[in-house]
Amino acid sequence: RIVYVNGDFVPEEEAKVSVFDRGFLMADAVYEVTSVLGGKLLDFPGHLARLHRSLSELGMGSPVTDAELLAIHRDLVARNGIVDGLVYLQVTRGNPGDRDFTFPDPAVVKPGIVLFTQSKPGLADSPAARAGWRVISIPDIRWGRRDIKTVQLLYPSMGKMMAKKAGVDDAWFVEEGKVTEGTSNNAYIVKGGRIITRDLSSDILHGITRAAVLRFAREAQMTVEERAFTLEEAKEADEAFITSASAFVMPVVEIDGVRLGSGAPGPVATRLRDIYIEESR
Ligand code: PDD
Repeated sequence: RIVYVNGDFVPEEEAKVSVFDRGFLMADAVYEVTSVLGGKLLDFPGHLARLHRSLSELGMGSPVTDAELLAIHRDLVARNGIVDGLVYLQVTRGNPGDRDFTFPDPAVVKPGIVLFTQSKPGLADSPAARAGWRVISIPDIRWGRRDIKTVQLLYPSMGKMMAKKAGVDDAWFVEEGKVTEGTSNNAYIVKGGRIITRDLSSDILHGITRAAVLRFAREAQMTVEERAFTLEEAKEADEAFITSASAFVMPVVEIDGVRLGSGAPGPVATRLRDIYIEESR
């Protein structure tokens, strides 16, 4: 596999990042994951806009221009022959050459940048989407700026492991009785035909797939309510689902062992998944 590191396309075995890189030492880095379907990048302008927002919230600059970033994405997809899969992009505050809590002077230390691809053949026709995910709920003990897409992913990884240990697919984070989001996705319930998902704030990541799916839902005359919902409401919902760049729209059929509706993927989730994939092709 060919990866991109600080200006160079190199075989992954030859890629090097400093041990003093702040992304490595301090999780001082932001990232984006863009899906590739049939060789095409999905929602790239949205991911680019969110990258800029994450960078600016942390006082970081972009190491390359937007046009260069798009070119690097396309180049990597082509070089690695990716048909279905994803492109991972990470921008770090760079390598100050030592470990220090204060940020280095941006005029002296340039941001670092790494991109790689992952091939996922048949991304759009996942067997998991036909069965739906089962989730457990766990406390949301992440920091308060979940709207910034940083690489501080230890707790989400622990959440995924708790889900795995429980024999299910994912965990939904709960704070003050209300669902924030999934470990790496936005969460939704459907009740009486209304689609309910948490409103945007620093409590959740502003999903790019969320924005697209809500737009499609409204265009299809579905009712969308952007507000926080409780875990209890979720367990009494007719159906549920999650969205993310890598899972698209994924039905959720069980929460903490409580089956939703018939226990099969619901009609709203199924329809939105179909629309999202159709519009992305
Ligand atoms: N995760 N919420 C969290 C906490 C996320 O990590 C993600 C994305 C989302 C969905 O955002 P989007 O629709 O823009 O992918 C919501 C990516 C896919 C990941 O970490 O792999």
